[in-house]
Amino acid sequence: MTTAKTRATIPTATRVSRFTYAIRNIVAEALRVEAGGTRVRYLNIGDPVAFGFQTPPHLISAVEKALREGHNGYGPSAGIAAAREAVADECTSKGFPVSADRVLITAGTSEGIELTLSAVVDTGTEVLVPMPTYPLYTAVLAKLDARAKYYRLDPSRGWMPDLEHLKSLVTPATRALVIIDPNNPTGAVYPPNVRRALLEFADEHGLLVLADEVYGDLGFDGSVEPYGRLDPDAPIISFSSLSKAYLAPGWRTGWMAIGRSPRLDDVVAAVRKLADGRLCSTVPMEYAVVAALRGDRSHQVAFREALRARATLTVDRLCAIPGISCVAPTAAFYAMPRVQLPPGKTDADYVHALLRETGVLCVYGSGFGLPAEDGFFRVVFLAPLDELGAIYDLMAAFTRDYLS
Ligand SMILES: Cc1ncc(COP(=O)(O)O)c(C=O)c1O
Repeated sequence: MTTAKTRATIPTATRVSRFTYAIRNIVAEALRVEAGGTRVRYLNIGDPVAFGFQTPPHLISAVEKALREGHNGYGPSAGIAAAREAVADECTSKGFPVSADRVLITAGTSEGIELTLSAVVDTGTEVLVPMPTYPLYTAVLAKLDARAKYYRLDPSRGWMPDLEHLKSLVTPATRALVIIDPNNPTGAVYPPNVRRALLEFADEHGLLVLADEVYGDLGFDGSVEPYGRLDPDAPIISFSSLSKAYLAPGWRTGWMAIGRSPRLDDVVAAVRKLADGRLCSTVPMEYAVVAALRGDRSHQVAFREALRARATLTVDRLCAIPGISCVAPTAAFYAMPRVQLPPGKTDADYVHALLRETGVLCVYGSGFGLPAEDGFFRVVFLAPLDELGAIYDLMAAFTRDYLS
């Protein structure tokens, strides 16, 4: 039976058009290039496993053991007690005192961010988000009908937050401050005075602080202190996961740790209520959280050294290309170079042309909130050094032609 009604396209919600996530959206174009016979080098997604870095065996054993021992049913919605205790001990040992009943195990940092924003924003309220940003924040805020207000990170000062600009953005509708440190997409780590200034600013305006610390163990010089150490009584929620420093992004397992401030008690209750609705995160992987945080971390030493070497090569090679400049990252696996675009061109024009001509896939800066005419783009430098060298050769030749 086919009536006019059943032939009609099923409509989708308007919020979908507001939800953009450039890091994956750009893959459609890459697939077309690949179908045309060009080898695509995917420098768009920060997945260390895709570039040969291995998940530590003791984490895999912990999940395997949990599966075999029958931990395959639903778990508590906040996560199993052993995992929550391991996160609380980890935060506390780093100087951010957190109790296990204020920890939730989540489907990656991503779910923690979404649960928290869902718990604290209403239609029309505002959240301060860095520019450039990791795009999940703006995507979730758009979905919730709340507003992201971008505060500038300044490339001329090593991508530090522009505090004056930040201060100019606060309104009575502002609810929270997002801090991504170490930062994606810039690779910057903020020094203690900047961190303190951010917390003082949040305190002055009564803002919740969302501290995205998913790269906290990937500073090239070692782990970076959590924000909660600077002021354990501030309303801070820290987010992290097994995805980056524990090399298991596909497990979709992370945590959020809510500081001890009584001002956060209602947020704890709200997040727990929302978490009940999604039942629980993946239970066997929760056992890996215990193994990760209580077990051997020697893989991180080797990983950090590998990242430092790649960062050095990346900055040396990119800065040697006429028309390109790049701030040196000090953590994680991202760099945010800038190309001096010809008049009328956008960052997406450059990135798409680079993809079509060379197969090298980066993400344009406007996908992270930057003005398209500024010419920024993000490089993920996880590939082996020799492959990165070959990629930068391709970029150099392409850019010379593009700018000539
Ligand atoms: C700053 C930042 N926050 C959150 C995430 C999401 O990570 P997860 O895999 O833990 O959800 C990422 C992933 O790239 C990220 O870069």
